[in-house]
Amino acid sequence: RSANVPLEYLTNRVSFYSREFYIDEGALIPRPETEHLIDEVLGRISADEALTIVEVGVGSGIISILLALHLPNTRFIAVDISPRALAVARRNIERFGLSDRIELREGDLLSSITEKIDFLVSNPPYIAQDAPLESNLSYEPQNALFGGEIGDEMIRALLDEVYARRIPSFACEMGYDQRLKVQEYLKNFAVQSLDFYTDYAAFDRGFVLKAIHE
Ligand SMILES: C[S@@+](CC[C@H](N)C(=O)[O-])C[C@H]1O[C@@H](n2cnc3c(N)ncnc32)[C@H](O)[C@@H]1O
Repeated sequence: RSANVPLEYLTNRVSFYSREFYIDEGALIPRPETEHLIDEVLGRISADEALTIVEVGVGSGIISILLALHLPNTRFIAVDISPRALAVARRNIERFGLSDRIELREGDLLSSITEKIDFLVSNPPYIAQDAPLESNLSYEPQNALFGGEIGDEMIRALLDEVYARRIPSFACEMGYDQRLKVQEYLKNFAVQSLDFYTDYAAFDRGFVLKAIHE
């Protein structure tokens, strides 16, 4: 700890949404603000719906696992570009006995997905490349933190995919200062609804988009 290594990486344990998960340096340490993303998705899907949900950037697996525990009829495909993150996710998915409902795939964004997607979920990297960061963040995978030069590049790439693949709904975490950028970008597209939500500190933290596909 004296070298600022996060406690979670020293104990290989992390708590999220009242559950305990395995964690190591291969994946981002889950943050409490991501619990809001879970609630936003659960508020829009009923437990008896049989959907295909795709998560991009699965990391430790917390989002797909929590959603799978609450949505027993839903199938998940969870993607990450990092084999080390996928190893952490696999371990957690096995621990929760969800290997038959959450399929892991290695790939960039949605490149590994050919299936029809009912709901897209993501907590993508969204920090700008040159943003000054606290030293403890240097222990976390850099491709889990930095979303590009501006920060919102991966969010925009996912929005493009929503319209290219005619995905009905998309829930996404974002940086506290990215709301205007998302609104601005979506002016190019047909939107049924766009709901932003805030985190425990009342900062903007994400959105749920219902798209119109003409
Ligand atoms: C902010 S972390 C989120 C991890 C986990 N879902 C969570 O909420 O704690 C972002 C994840 O996206 C992955 N990632 C980064 N670029 C990607 C890309 N182009 N395609 C797929 N996954 C990517 C990273 O490896 C990382 O695991």
